Amino acid sequence: MDCIPMLVFCFISFLIVRTATPTDTINTAQFIRDGDTIVSAGGTYELGFFSPGKSKSRYLGIWYGKISVQTAVWVANRETPLNDSSGVVRLTNEGLLVLLNRSGSIIWSSNTSTPARNPVAQLLDTGNLVVKEEGDNNVENSLWQSFDYPGNTLIPGMKVGRNIKTGMDWYVTSWKSPDDPSRGNITGILVPEGYPELLLLEDSKPKHRAGPWNGLQFSGMPQVKPNPVYIFEFVYNEKEIYYTEQLHNSSRHWRVVLPQSGDIQHILWIEQTQSWLLYETANTDNCETYALCGANGICSINNSPVCNCLKGFVPKVPRDWDKTDWSSGCVRKTALNCSRDGFRKLSGVKMPETRKSWFNRSMDLEECKNTCLKNCSCTAYTNLDIRDGGSGCLLWFNDLIDMRTFVQNEQDIFIRMDASELGL
Ligand SMILES: *[C@@H]1O[C@H](CO)[C@@H](O)[C@H](O)[C@H]1NC(C)=O
Ligand SMILES: *[C@@H]1O[C@H](CO)[C@@H](O)[C@H](O)[C@H]1NC(C)=O
Ligand SMILES: *[C@@H]1O[C@H](CO)[C@@H](O)[C@H](O)[C@H]1NC(C)=O
Ligand SMILES: *[C@@H]1O[C@H](CO)[C@@H](O)[C@H](O)[C@H]1NC(C)=O
Ligand SMILES: *[C@@H]1O[C@H](CO)[C@@H](O)[C@H](O)[C@H]1NC(C)=O
Ligand SMILES: *[C@@H]1O[C@H](CO)[C@@H](O)[C@H](O)[C@H]1NC(C)=O
Ligand SMILES: *[C@@H]1O[C@H](CO)[C@@H](O)[C@H](O)[C@H]1NC(C)=O
Ligand SMILES: *[C@@H]1O[C@H](CO)[C@@H](O)[C@H](O)[C@H]1NC(C)=O
Repeated sequence: MDCIPMLVFCFISFLIVRTATPTDTINTAQFIRDGDTIVSAGGTYELGFFSPGKSKSRYLGIWYGKISVQTAVWVANRETPLNDSSGVVRLTNEGLLVLLNRSGSIIWSSNTSTPARNPVAQLLDTGNLVVKEEGDNNVENSLWQSFDYPGNTLIPGMKVGRNIKTGMDWYVTSWKSPDDPSRGNITGILVPEGYPELLLLEDSKPKHRAGPWNGLQFSGMPQVKPNPVYIFEFVYNEKEIYYTEQLHNSSRHWRVVLPQSGDIQHILWIEQTQSWLLYETANTDNCETYALCGANGICSINNSPVCNCLKGFVPKVPRDWDKTDWSSGCVRKTALNCSRDGFRKLSGVKMPETRKSWFNRSMDLEECKNTCLKNCSCTAYTNLDIRDGGSGCLLWFNDLIDMRTFVQNEQDIFIRMDASELGL
């Protein structure tokens, strides 16, 4: 840049650049303009304006502070991009972060259910942007936090699930494209009915299911297992139900991204190569298609065709099955008698959908079986937790939906059958 005609201006810019110490906090008297950033205390994350991919629009977002490849992990104004670099963020006296465009209209805002007294906004070194009372460092007391509103990315400490106390859901939504962070049509949610389970939706239709948590892992994702890089956890208590991931070494960089394809990606930063490594991807096959084989059907990726009925069941509409349309599913060869039924054990399968299930953490498998037998619409049972020889009880009612075979699964399911089907 030619500085001579603008010497004074350059000198002032120089002074501003040199004297501005990076801060992680703004109060109600300060603001962040396009070009300014705030940086978390350890320098791990940075907040400011950016343009994703080939986009020319400006977004308020959070990215990694120490990584050469700009990688956004959170975006505020996903649905309302700025057309130019006139955006300004400030914190109102009420404790709302507001993003203003050139004409001063609010184009994005945070919210809060509690009025603020002396609010500040701070970018924590976890990547969480919080609005809080000045001096109150307990994140749980925050008036608002960006971790409650993930975009397409989970970073360590973010959750997918439900806050039972407030009824608020944590969920992820894909970006329309790498150039457009507005909401795509893939959503990752927790279904809180029955025994809670993680589900991917395309628009509002189920796409893939993780399978119920068995104490160690999700029954539909045996490939996600203990490993040297990350810890995964499913927490279910009176306050909250959620899935989260942490790194064994918290100084590394890790993100989980839900792309528009629906194949969840686990991505790790490699210092040596200065690039992101696709550490693990869901790589979904045809059997991951939700309920491909219909009710009481089972998918086996190495079979042709992939769909079969569970043993003791037959296609409900054989004509459709002959045309490889399995959606009508299967029905029992012999109806349940209810009073003299038994169970057939099935191993190495993904547990059926738990939306219509019931569970009890303290029953053993025998009590579980007897509880199932007492209710004529109970069709299957298993241990809720497979650790230490198994504990707890999970019951299914009526149709069994979205099962597949897996060689590696340790959880057995016991499927209710009429005695004659079992040769009793
Ligand atoms: C961008 O420009 C268009 C047309 O000029 C306007 O309608 C829209 O509100 C602008 N968006 C923002 C966020 O200012
Ligand atoms: C600012 O946003 C408002 C509301 O979206 C819009 O009507 C206005 O045109 C925008 N101003 C500019 C300069 O884009
Ligand atoms: C805050 O906004 C989000 C999204 O716009 C909404 O889902 C949530 O209910 C709001 N919370 C409060 C406390 O108003
Ligand atoms: C979801 O969006 C993709 C394009 O990103 C499109 O191909 C697909 O048809 C959409 N799905 C539905 C159900 O609309
Ligand atoms: C953790 O990761 C950092 C950054 O990659 C590395 O410098 C450090 O040696 C690692 N620590 C351990 C205990 O592996
Ligand atoms: C169940 O089996 C018993 C004994 O065979 C029989 O008496 C009863 O009628 C059957 N009940 C039903 C609902 O089929
Ligand atoms: C769960 O099972 C235990 C042990 O059988 C029993 O004491 C308890 O009442 C059951 N809880 C519910 C909600 O059914
Ligand atoms: C059987 O279980 C279903 C589903 O939980 C329930 O709606 C029904 O009332 C139960 N029937 C009996 C007889 O307990």
